[in-house]
Amino acid sequence: MFRSHLLNELRKSDEGSEVTLSGWVHRRRDHGGLIFVDLRDRYGLTQIVFDPANDTDSHALAESLRSEFVIKVTGTVRVRPEGMSNANMETGEIEVLVNELTILNKALTPPFEIDIEKDVNEELRLKYRYLDLRRERLRNNIVLRHEVIKHMRDYMSGRGFLEVETPILVKGTPEGSREYMVPSRLYPGSFYVLPQSPQQLKQLLMLAGFDKYFQIARCFRDEDQRGDRQPEFTQLDIEMSFVNEEDVMEVNEKLLYELITKFKPEANVLWNEAKRFTYHEAMNLYGSDKPDLRFGMEMVDCGEVFAKSEFKVFAEPLSSGGVVKALKVEGAAEQFTRKVIDELTEVAKTYKAKGLAYIIKEAGELRSPILKFMTDEEIAALTELIDFKDGDIVFFGADSFEVACTALGQVRLACGSMLGLRNDNDFAICWVTDFPMFEWSEEFNSLQACHHPFTSPCLDEIDKLESAPNEMLSRAYDLVLNGNEIGGGSIRIHDQQLQSRVFKALGISEEDAERKFGHMLEAFQYGAPPHGGIAWGIDRLIMIFAGEPNIREVMAFPKDQKAKDVMLGSPAPMPKENLDELHIQLALEE
Ligand code: AMO
Ligand code: AMP
Repeated sequence: MFRSHLLNELRKSDEGSEVTLSGWVHRRRDHGGLIFVDLRDRYGLTQIVFDPANDTDSHALAESLRSEFVIKVTGTVRVRPEGMSNANMETGEIEVLVNELTILNKALTPPFEIDIEKDVNEELRLKYRYLDLRRERLRNNIVLRHEVIKHMRDYMSGRGFLEVETPILVKGTPEGSREYMVPSRLYPGSFYVLPQSPQQLKQLLMLAGFDKYFQIARCFRDEDQRGDRQPEFTQLDIEMSFVNEEDVMEVNEKLLYELITKFKPEANVLWNEAKRFTYHEAMNLYGSDKPDLRFGMEMVDCGEVFAKSEFKVFAEPLSSGGVVKALKVEGAAEQFTRKVIDELTEVAKTYKAKGLAYIIKEAGELRSPILKFMTDEEIAALTELIDFKDGDIVFFGADSFEVACTALGQVRLACGSMLGLRNDNDFAICWVTDFPMFEWSEEFNSLQACHHPFTSPCLDEIDKLESAPNEMLSRAYDLVLNGNEIGGGSIRIHDQQLQSRVFKALGISEEDAERKFGHMLEAFQYGAPPHGGIAWGIDRLIMIFAGEPNIREVMAFPKDQKAKDVMLGSPAPMPKENLDELHIQLALEE
């Protein structure tokens, strides 16, 4: 037997018991004759003591113990002496006096300390991920991940959803990224594609009559890496038949509130029903389609105030269909030094703004480089409109709606962070709906679906499909938590003709539509029920729950920021015979 107890289990009430424990040497301390070891397993730590007066053999062997050795001990539980108990340890009241020690395996000195939480170079952590996972932080994250996913499974099952697995070797699924391809040995020159999501298959499950589906689904996307993106990641994927937006939202919103209550009991949930914004409202007020609502600071439209302005920066956008937006930051003017304003101007410029005009009000006086371009009437109207008070600073964005809102929205976030308004413990949830159906892509010189091409347009907009597709809104919705897009979905098209018209609007020829999506178009002719669904980014949600800065910290074996697995060493070149078998010839420069 390796163990009678786990390492978080023993208590005062076990005093006198003979126990067998196994685990890793977390920390070893020699105290003049006595050797103390904190023994570690997944569950916790237990202090064990080697005393030569009790057993000379095990004490002698314990001299050779080093960090991360794997050992088994047998001994007697005793209560720690007065004043020696450790309140930070579950087993802190006891220790085990060892009678017998077996070294199960030795260990090299780890490349970083396992017993201290401190910053270690991330490449090193990823290379030795199995060691990093021994550390408390990652271990807790992986346990949390398991529990969150289990709760999701239980909740979905409890509401009558069936978990169905869909294949990984599939055909292209457009979700807006590049795809990973797998060459076929049996069909020279042909490829499988890894799914960007189970989108088409879950829709086909609705056709199959499964009605309520979910899956903890692995998705693959070959996109540029960022903190909240990985080449493979996990979705809670959901699809439902005979539903409208409200039905999908109800199921998902309840789940999110349940998860927060369970996994963030200390959270300050700002409201108990998700707020709703259309895409246009969200952009207009917060300059983002995933607004962080932990703080207010809403943007205000100043178009009317400056309608007759002779200030070129404002007049030009207004005369060409653009906007002038104001963002007032209350009572913090003294924090906005020249340097801070310059930094915020850079933020705005990163998002295509041409500058960041501002006015400060202090002791009844206005200060600003643009004051000289403003009339007294304009100042008065502005003061009235935004309730401009002493100590306030107001920033302006003047540009197209899209650019002005986005840039000022980023300035809003930066101000929120700077003023400590984005509290990790506050949870603010909203839905964003009525997204544009299409967006123009410079890269492809064509319209692209904002969500994906299976998303239904808003029903009263279908007539615009041929005449004004760029004005159309869709039945897509995003679930947003603290400025993060946790999930996105839509009510789908279930009519074959409408689906064909959408492909056409996207510039997909009939031939291409048939080749890529013929199976969907055909399936829609065999009794497709109205249906819709959503997918959550599970990694992102757990990242927020764990308070981690990126999703790598909540994945057991993530890729690095250059999409590499530095532990396994992938991607890697393949021997010629493997390539030959797959009928692949490389066209690399030497
Ligand atoms: P979408 O592409 O919006 O929709 O993805 C849904 C959610 O998945 C998460 N996500 C990611 N997480 C980590 N790394 C990535 N590279 C990554 N990309 C996306 C986000 C996002 O909200 N089939 C549709 C869903 C549907 O319509 O039902 C889809 O995949 O949190
Ligand atoms: P300029 O006339 O270019 O020197 O700009 C005067 C002020 O307006 C500076 O503070 C700029 O940062 C700011 N500014 C310039 N263009 C814009 C714009 N499109 N939106 C907001 N502020 C701007």
